Amino acid sequence: MTDFVDGLYPYRHDSRTYRAIEDAPRSRAEVLDEVRRMATAEDAKGAAGRVSGSLYSGDHEHYAYLAEVFGQFAHANILQRDMYPSATKFEAEIIAMTIDLLHGDSGQGACGVITSGGSESLITALYTYREQAAGGRAVTRPNVVIPVTAHVALDKGAHWLGIEVRHAPLQPDYRADPAAMAALIDENTIALFGSAANYPHGLIDPIEELGELARSHGIGLHVDGCLGGFLLPWIEQLGYDVPRWDFRVRGVTSISADTHKYGYALKGTSTLLYSSPELRRHQYFTYPNWPGGLYLSPGFAGSRSGGLVASTWAAMVTTGADGYRAAAADIMSTAGKIRAGVDAIDGIEVIGDPTFLVAFQAAPDTSDDGPIDIYLVNDALIAAGWRLNSLQLPAALHFCVTRPNTAEGIAERFVDDLRSAVDYAKRNRGATAESGAMYGFGGTPGGDEAINGLMVAVLDAMHAVAPED
Ligand SMILES: Cc1ncc(COP(=O)(O)O)c(C=O)c1O
Repeated sequence: MTDFVDGLYPYRHDSRTYRAIEDAPRSRAEVLDEVRRMATAEDAKGAAGRVSGSLYSGDHEHYAYLAEVFGQFAHANILQRDMYPSATKFEAEIIAMTIDLLHGDSGQGACGVITSGGSESLITALYTYREQAAGGRAVTRPNVVIPVTAHVALDKGAHWLGIEVRHAPLQPDYRADPAAMAALIDENTIALFGSAANYPHGLIDPIEELGELARSHGIGLHVDGCLGGFLLPWIEQLGYDVPRWDFRVRGVTSISADTHKYGYALKGTSTLLYSSPELRRHQYFTYPNWPGGLYLSPGFAGSRSGGLVASTWAAMVTTGADGYRAAAADIMSTAGKIRAGVDAIDGIEVIGDPTFLVAFQAAPDTSDDGPIDIYLVNDALIAAGWRLNSLQLPAALHFCVTRPNTAEGIAERFVDDLRSAVDYAKRNRGATAESGAMYGFGGTPGGDEAINGLMVAVLDAMHAVAPED
C-alpha cells in the first residue's frame, strides 16, 4: 500500500511542489518544458503498445492536429451560442453522424446530446428515465434492472439519483440473462440496461431479447455502447459476425457511444442518443425564476469548452469511414492473435466469445494443484512491462485492443510474455499476488485488501499534494 501511494507522487523530488500561488510568475517556457517532460515520460508505455484500452488512437500527429483545432475554441464557453454558433454545427453534426452510424433515423426523431464522457452519458440516461417515469407513471421509488457486467457508472449515478439498482446474474456464456432480468422487473422499473460491448469481458448482451423484454413492459432499453459504439459498426461492415445491438433493434430507446474512445477524439466527449425528442426532453432543465436570468440547460454541465466539440467533430471528419474501418481491421486482427494465443496456453481460458476485447481467467484444474492465481499472471505481465486491466467476480484480466497495440509484433510478443507469465503463476502457486482488481489501475494495492476503507484512502491520496519529506 505504501509503495502504491508513493507511486502517486513521482515528481515530489524533481519538480517544485506548490501549496500556494507564488508571487513571482514562472516563465512559460520553463513550465512548458516541465509539462512536456512529464507527458513524454508518461506516454512512453502507451506508445510502446503495451497498454490495454486507455489510449485509443495513439497517433501523435492526430493528437497534435486535434489540439490545434481545440486551441481555436479552448477558451470559448459554448453556453453562449450567440457568440459561438459553430458549436451548434459541431454538436449537431457529431450527433447526426453517430445516429447514422448506429442506424438511427433522424427523420423519425432519433436525436441526442454531447456529454463529457461515458459515465455522464449513462448517468444522464438514468436521470432521463427517472424523470420520464416520474412524470408519466408517477413512479416515486424507481429502480433499474441491469446485468452485473453493466458499467459501474450506473451504480454511481443511481446512488446520486436515488434509484435502486437491481443486478441480474449472467448466462453461462457471460452475457446478460434476459430471464434473470425479467424476474427483477416490477411496476417501479424505469428502464433496462444492456451493453455493446461491456467493459469487463467485451461481450455484447442479447439486445434483441432485451428489447422485446423492455417493450413487453412498456419501458425503455438503454444500450451502453460507450466502448463499442464507435468500433462494432466498422467490425460488422468488415464482415465479422456482430449481433444486432443498435437502433435497428426494436425496443432500443437510447444508446451511449463514446467519441473519446474509438471515435479517436480527445478526452472529454461522448454521445447520448435517443429514439425520440420526447424522451430527450426529460433530461432538459429549465428554470424561469432565477434573478440571474431564464435558465435553460440540456444536462449536467454548465459552461463547456468549445474546443471539445470542435476537435471531436474534426476527429470524425478527418478519420472518415475509411480510416475507422482500417483501424477496426487492424484491431480485429490483433485481437484475433491474442485470443488464439490465450486459447493455446494451458491454464487459462477466454471468457465468452469476444470481438475486440479479450478477457481471460484461470482454467478449471481438477488436479491436486488447482487453478492458477490469475493475479500472479498479472504480476509477471506487469514486470514484463504490460498494463492489462484486472477484473474480479470472477478474477480475470482483459486486454482491450486499441490502435497502439496493432503495431507490428506486439500481439506475438504479448502471447510469448503471457505464456511465461502463466508458467510463473504455476511455479508460484500459493504465493500472494501483488496485483489485484482495482478499476482504472494497472497495478493495485493488493486484491485481498481492496475494501472500502482502503479505496477511500486511495481516493484521498489521489487528491493530496505530494507529502513533504
Ligand atoms: C462499457 C463502458 N461504459 C461506460 C464507460 C465509462 O466511460 P468513461 O470512462 O468515459 O466515463 C466505460 C469505460 O471504459 C465502458 O467501457
